[in-house]
Amino acid sequence: PLVDRLFNADETELKLARKLNIERTIIVPGNGDFQDRVYQEMGEALNSALDLLLPLGHSIITVLGGMALAKSARYLSKNLANNRELEFVPGRGALGENVKTQSNTIVQEMAARTHGEYKTLYLPEQVSEQAYNSLIREPAIADLLQDISQSDVVIHGIGLAQEMAKRRGYDSIKLSDLREKKAITECFGCFFGEDGRIVDRITQVGLQFENLSKIPRIFAFACGASKADAIKAYMPNAPHQTWLITDEGASEAILKEN
Ligand code: F6P
Repeated sequence: PLVDRLFNADETELKLARKLNIERTIIVPGNGDFQDRVYQEMGEALNSALDLLLPLGHSIITVLGGMALAKSARYLSKNLANNRELEFVPGRGALGENVKTQSNTIVQEMAARTHGEYKTLYLPEQVSEQAYNSLIREPAIADLLQDISQSDVVIHGIGLAQEMAKRRGYDSIKLSDLREKKAITECFGCFFGEDGRIVDRITQVGLQFENLSKIPRIFAFACGASKADAIKAYMPNAPHQTWLITDEGASEAILKEN
């Protein structure tokens, strides 16, 4: 069973973790670019990893959005609820684009599968500086932000910069500006460039990248050969405790290059 295998990473998983300088990788067979069943295996792998790592009792799990997580959320299972009370919290407001891939939707699905609780954050994803400063003082929002900061686990996707910028409605001027800054990858509203520096960011209410390192367990969730560059560019910035759940498509493409 997978739980046993988690104690015993195989050679490719160790190699990939070493290359990306993170604690652990789990690689499922296939290539998510073409095979939807990859998302089932990744979801089951996430379930097993959570079962292995989550303490008993109350846990807060902060979840970001994205397609990969949206497709895998239903594979969490009620066995996670044995001797645990799980609280799922969205890591940020809504993207506006597609209700299926929003954090708010994914936490509801995960909570339903694991008999857990969830909270929601119905705010636009991007807000002005001024709105941000007053929103974070709203009691209900401040309460949710406190939960986020006390999370036991964060689960997030990794996006390609240009694609994420388009999804977020960047116009052609902002898109070419992003290209000029050589943004490759996007996570937590931050666009990272080739050298790992943040070259652009969105003001969003929710988990701030700078606070991620304080979270005990982090799962990055991204698959398909097309995501290889995004994964490679984000990982040097990832806290070491990150576990990457991915597929052979992405992992072979990452390991191929030096
Ligand atoms: O929405 C959360 C997020 O982690 C983004 O920050 C990231 O760019 C995106 O998920 C990736 O999602 P997808 O699985 O749709 O490519």
